[in-house]
Amino acid sequence: MSAPTPAFDIIIYGATSFVGQIMLEYLAEYTSQQDAEPVKWAVAGRDEQKLLAVKAQNSLSHIEHIVADASDEAALNSMCAQTKVVISTVGPYALYGETLIKVCAESGTDYCDLTGEPQWIKAMLDKYEDVAKSSGARIINSAGFDSIPSDLGVYVLQQHALETTGKPAFQIKMRVRKIKGGASGGTIASMLNVVEEASKNPALRKLLVNPYVLCPAEHPYKQYQTNHKKAQFEEDTQMWIMPFIMAAINERIVHRSNALLGNRYGEHFLYDEAMSAKKGLQAWGITLGLGAFMVGASIKPIRNILAKHVLPKPGEGPSKEEQLAGMFDMRFYTTLDNGEKAVVQVKGDRDPGYGSTAKMLTQAALCLAKDVPDVSGGFWTPAAALNDALIQRLALHAGVTVTILAS
Ligand SMILES: NC(=O)c1ccc[n+]([C@@H]2O[C@H](COP(=O)([O-])OP(=O)(O)OC[C@H]3O[C@@H](n4cnc5c(N)ncnc54)[C@H](OP(=O)(O)O)[C@@H]3O)[C@@H](O)[C@H]2O)c1
Repeated sequence: MSAPTPAFDIIIYGATSFVGQIMLEYLAEYTSQQDAEPVKWAVAGRDEQKLLAVKAQNSLSHIEHIVADASDEAALNSMCAQTKVVISTVGPYALYGETLIKVCAESGTDYCDLTGEPQWIKAMLDKYEDVAKSSGARIINSAGFDSIPSDLGVYVLQQHALETTGKPAFQIKMRVRKIKGGASGGTIASMLNVVEEASKNPALRKLLVNPYVLCPAEHPYKQYQTNHKKAQFEEDTQMWIMPFIMAAINERIVHRSNALLGNRYGEHFLYDEAMSAKKGLQAWGITLGLGAFMVGASIKPIRNILAKHVLPKPGEGPSKEEQLAGMFDMRFYTTLDNGEKAVVQVKGDRDPGYGSTAKMLTQAALCLAKDVPDVSGGFWTPAAALNDALIQRLALHAGVTVTILAS
């Protein structure tokens, strides 16, 4: 006898989080449009009163809610039995995420999240990848601003290279040309947790600098990858560049996509990310500020002061106005095998971390629930599992476009 069809397409677990609440608002609007695709959805979290409050705020009292603490395996199992896909925004994932991954991998429930914590993804891969492959659960981490734009920008530029020249691009450089938005308490908590774990653990520090840490054990990659640590003027792009904090997760997801796509980008593929700056002074100022923050955050008393008195707390983040005024514009540069230059642009119409992330994560989950039935169980990346179907959804419904600008 086949298993009963779950009641829901998607459940937003962590619906009371800063980003979860934006997703609720987005889904309410998305599903109420004329000609909207039918979506069966519910919300979940650990605190029933908070769930009732966020439902009421969005006039969503008719939407079902499920109560489950992140450590309650039985409650998570009962939640997973009711849905095709669970979306989790319960982070830091390294602190709260493992039991849900275990339950999804064992029960064959599909899963998407927003983690930017490579050390946690690596630990989950080691423990649950084989389990997910056997149960058929499709697990997709990093389905927000990290790392969908990077993963899809590289995917499209490499598709273009293959179609134009028959060969993949040997090197792609991603440069953030414009970005406007802020950070939430949840993101800050996740960053501080990685810094705290790394400051205590030399093996973890080694793991975090490995660009291929998320690739399967038998991967063939050996190429030394550029890691931007300082401001510099880049001759070939004619820009001032500086470190981009999200490169630490994005570059690793892109290399995993290469491996999952059967080395489509080549065994010697080079990929790096940086932010562009208008002037050298700006590039150096931001680089030094970021360096000082990272050094401060690695010292416990300073980290505690930053978390308590300076940075946003869990549940806080950019205002609605800041989200609407936000945007991002990322460019992917390469020289094709025939000597021509090619550029892909990935653009978003909201602040990257929240307004755009909420739309990207929701559409990634819907794409997983509805568009890719042939993708098998295992730990996937957005580009390897969802690629063209997600690109189409993002352009139509999420204000995120991937465009070949020049070739
Ligand atoms: N990849 C990206 O681009 C991206 C962008 C934005 C955010 N993020 C990540 O997404 C995550 C969420 O960020 P945020 O700012 O929205 O976080 P947040 O506002 O701090 O929310 C955290 C959520 O976790 C829930 N939670 C905490 N402990 C729990 C437990 N034991 N059981 C069940 N739920 C529990 C909280 O529930 P209560 O409300 O009941 O406390 C809340 O819903 C963070 O890890 C952040 O780093 C990633």
